[in-house]
Parts: sequence; structure tokens; C-alpha cells
Amino acid sequence: MLARNRFILLLVVGAVLAVLSYSLQYLHFIPINPVPEERSHGKSRKRVNPVIHTEPPEPDPLTDTLRYCNIPNSTEHSTEGHSPPDYKLLSVHVMIRHGDRYPLYSIPKTKRPSVDCTLSAKRRPSHPLLSSFISHMALGGRGHWDASLASLPRLPNHSQCELGELTQTGVVQHLRNGQVLRQAYMTRHKLLSDDWSARQVSVETTGKSRTLQSGLALLYGFMPAFDWSRLTIRQQWSTLFCGSSCDCPARNRYLEQEQHRQYLQRTADTELELTYVTMAKVLGVATRTLRASNPVDALLCHFCHGLPFPCASARGAQTRPQAEGACLTPQQFAVIRRQQCDDERERREAGLYRRYAVLAAHPYLNRSATRMERIARGNQRRKGPEEAVLALASAHDITMAPVLSALGLERAGFPRFAARLVFELWRGPEETGEKGRRGGGGRERKKEGKRGIENTFVRVLYNGEDLTFDTAFCRQHDRYSAQPLCPLGNFLAFVRRDMFSIVNATSYQQACHRAVL
Ligand SMILES: *[C@@H]1O[C@H](CO)[C@@H](O)[C@H](O)[C@H]1NC(C)=O
Ligand SMILES: *[C@@H]1O[C@H](CO)[C@@H](O)[C@H](O)[C@H]1NC(C)=O
Ligand SMILES: *[C@@H]1O[C@H](CO)[C@@H](O)[C@H](O)[C@H]1NC(C)=O
Ligand SMILES: *[C@@H]1O[C@H](CO)[C@@H](O)[C@H](O)[C@H]1NC(C)=O
Repeated sequence: MLARNRFILLLVVGAVLAVLSYSLQYLHFIPINPVPEERSHGKSRKRVNPVIHTEPPEPDPLTDTLRYCNIPNSTEHSTEGHSPPDYKLLSVHVMIRHGDRYPLYSIPKTKRPSVDCTLSAKRRPSHPLLSSFISHMALGGRGHWDASLASLPRLPNHSQCELGELTQTGVVQHLRNGQVLRQAYMTRHKLLSDDWSARQVSVETTGKSRTLQSGLALLYGFMPAFDWSRLTIRQQWSTLFCGSSCDCPARNRYLEQEQHRQYLQRTADTELELTYVTMAKVLGVATRTLRASNPVDALLCHFCHGLPFPCASARGAQTRPQAEGACLTPQQFAVIRRQQCDDERERREAGLYRRYAVLAAHPYLNRSATRMERIARGNQRRKGPEEAVLALASAHDITMAPVLSALGLERAGFPRFAARLVFELWRGPEETGEKGRRGGGGRERKKEGKRGIENTFVRVLYNGEDLTFDTAFCRQHDRYSAQPLCPLGNFLAFVRRDMFSIVNATSYQQACHRAVL
């Protein structure tokens, strides 16, 4: 009984917050993103998730869902680009999740939520760059497009959104991300000059319009009116961004084990089961049918857009639509979200997902590591092939969640809409004589013109928050030592060997092709 009262109280608080944030976004507009939040949760469609050691107090399911929505309403305090003085920024690797989107599924016997996916600077949430972004996308024919990307729409443009379409909120979220990064990397550290070359910028996306459009919005916020002719947009065929290293039988078996755990957890949750039965009855459909339609995905859209929850359409419902109980309720939604939070906690403890994550994330991390090492070793004088100093990967929650888990980022949560994960590569102040040897970690610099990696460092940021010293590869580093940042060498050793210790292996090949019990 006590638990029930507490739950109702939480619901009321959640509803108040929802109304508040919704009205705020209509009252005024402040450019830049909300303060990064600790945790948010995903939809049951995806298996997923990270791993937490120290338990922060669990937020209630609906407040937590507001974080997931990531409604652009407040100024963000990000720490991207922060470094000790005299450090030089060498490159930046960004992975994003696409912004707010229309549901992928619809709930049977209900009207789909009414959301307008055309873009208009007059509609909230808006952005000062929105109009010029729309015009600039019309010139996209001048860009270079890989594979099937050229045929995707470069802007959302349906007055009633299509399934999975990016919304204006999603576009604005990434314009803001781009502006935050512009401030950090262009204004402060001059990462790219005005005459940046085609090779200095790498953009990759999956073949979905929402990831393509999200990537373009971020890029536009980062470099308004960028020169299309210098831009090549490449397609990743796998949502894991695994390129030519996707073959990994063990990965799929770890995933099956995790999904089995998830299935047992879900079916043991009697409150959840009862809720599905009630919801199905309200709509007049079989419980199985309702469950298969993944109602939480559509309800998230209602919730994030402040729309009333869907009601049974007159046809086929057991109750008339206007009668009490003929609509789905925030309470039912909260039960589903509560179960997702429980599931995430259990997932961390079971550790099965982490094994999957290590194998799923390796190819992306390996490519990033290779790029960083090349830049770090780059001969400054000789003209060689340039490495991208800005690499953007526009991806999905099921791309980003394994990367976070593999890095051991306990405090990160399920990737919210427009989440961003950033790797920065830095070079320390030039070494000279004794001082250089100390700061360089023991070894002297390599031959003249060819640099070692001793004096280079990485930072890892998630939604603007510096999580470098929470990662598995730099948790042990003494940041108050001579090296206030995390050495690149730690990251390279982790990606090339240490990350596989969790699956008792020393390489990707070995881990992927061994029998999993
Ligand atoms: C912005 O919205 C979030 C939910 O997305 C909410 O938690 C936060 O309090 C809001 N901030 C402001 C300043 O309204
Ligand atoms: C959106 O679609 C409408 C009608 O199909 C078209 O007239 C308009 O030019 C499109 N806008 C953009 C920006 O593509
Ligand atoms: C990792 O990167 C190296 C290049 O540094 C490459 O030779 C190797 O094939 C990559 N491994 C995987 C599994 O992608
Ligand atoms: C790794 O080895 C240990 C001890 O031999 C065992 O308990 C553990 O289950 C193994 N882990 C995996 C993922 O195979």
C-alpha cells in the first residue's frame, strides 16, 4: 500500500514536470542544450544496456523519461574542449544518436499521434539557424553521397510524420549539439580552418533518413553554410558501424543469452503482465497483439510531445471511446517504464550485455583508435594522406549503447534522443630535455619528424560531461600526476587487447570465433 502511494505521488510529480517543461518550451527559447543528465532509459524494442557500479538514487520512471525526451529548453554547461593550458587539440571523434523521431510502431485500434514533421522556424522548438539550414539542404546535390544515401530526403517533410521520421525537435536538438561543439572546437581551438580539406572531415551514417538528417543538422550547427563540394557522406551498412569486421558469431550468442535473461525478467513481472492485459482490454485487441506492437515506443512520442494518450477507436473497442478507461493512461506507461528501469538494473548485474557490447563495439573503437594513433604519430612536415580531424558517426541507440557499455561507462544511461559521445585527442606542451622525458612517460621522442604517442591524450565526453576517468581504461590513472589527462596509450591498449579480458580473450578474432556455452 505504501509503495502504491509513493508511486502515485511520483506520477503526479512526473505529470507536473511534463506540463512545466512543455509550457516552458513554448514560452521562451534559449539556444543550447539541457544540462547533461545521468541516466535515461530506452524502449523494450532494444535489448540493451550499461553497467553501473555505484548506484545513484534511481529517478522515478517519468522524470527519467523526460531526460530521455531531451526537450530543448535550457542552456547547457558542456565541458567539451576543456584542457590544461598549452595543450593542442588534434582531433575529435563524435558519435551521435539521431534526434527525436516519430514512433516506429503504431498501437493497434488507436489513432497515431498527430505530429507535424515539416520544418518551420515559426513552430516551437525553433532555432536561429533553422531557416538557413533548410535552404542549405536544398543545395545538397553538390555533396558526394555514398551508396543509397543520395536518394534519401535531406529534410523531414511530411505534415503528418511517417513512421521513424525525424521531427523538428530532432533537427533542433542536433543544431544545438553542433553549436555547442562549434563553440568548443572551432571558436576556442580552431580545429578546422576556413579552407578545410575534404579529407579532414569524415561523416558516416546508417541508411536511415533520421540518422542522415541528424548528422547534417549537427554538421550545420558546427559549420554553418559548410561547403558541400568538400563533403563526402559515407554509409555504414550495419547499425554497429562494424565496416568489414562484422562477422562475429560469439557476439550473437552473447546477445541471445542477454535476450533470454530479459525475457525471463519480463515474464516474471506480474504488474507489467497485468498492465498489458488491461491495456489490451481497453483497446479490444489480444494481449499478444498489443505486446507485439511495442506500445511504449508510441507512448514515448505522446509523452515527449505533450500529447494526450491514445484512446480506443470506436470500432472494435469493448468500451466506448469517451467512456472512462477507454484511453491508455500515464499510469500504465509508468509501469512499463518502471519495468524497463528494473530490467536495466538487472542487466548491469548479470553482465551478459557487457560481453555482447565488447564485441559489438570493438570495430568502431578500433577504427577510432587507428585514426587517433595515425594523427598522433603524424609527420607534421611531410605531406601524407591526412586523417580526418573531425569524424562524425550518426547512429542509433543500439549503436551507442554497446560503445558506452564496452568503455565501462557506469554512469552513462541508455542513450537519449540526440545523445552525443565525443573522443578528443590532445597533444601536451612541447617536450624539451629533462622535463620532456618526465612528461612523456619515460620514452624519448621517436626519430626526428616522426612523433611517438607518448605526449598525446584522450578525453571522453558524454552529453557534455567529462567521463574520461570513469572509463575502464583510465579509471586507474592518477589525474593529479604529471599527466593530468588520460594517455592515448591506455586507450590503444584497451581497444587492442584489454577490453577482451571480460570474455577471457586477447583479441577480437579469438573472442569472436570461440565457442560460447
Ligand atoms: C528541461 O526539460 C527537462 C526534461 O526534458 C527537465 O528535466 C528540466 O527541468 C527542464 N529545464 C528547464 C530549465 O525547464
Ligand atoms: C516539402 O514538400 C512540399 C510538398 O511535397 C514541397 O512543395 C516542398 O518544396 C518540400 N520542402 C522541402 C524543404 O523539401
Ligand atoms: C583494427 O585496426 C587495425 C589497424 O590498426 C587493423 O589492422 C585490424 O584489422 C582492425 N581489427 C578489427 C577487428 O577491426
Ligand atoms: C572466463 O573464465 C572464468 C574462469 O575460468 C569463468 O568463470 C568465466 O565464466 C569465463 N568468462 C567467459 C565470458 O567465458
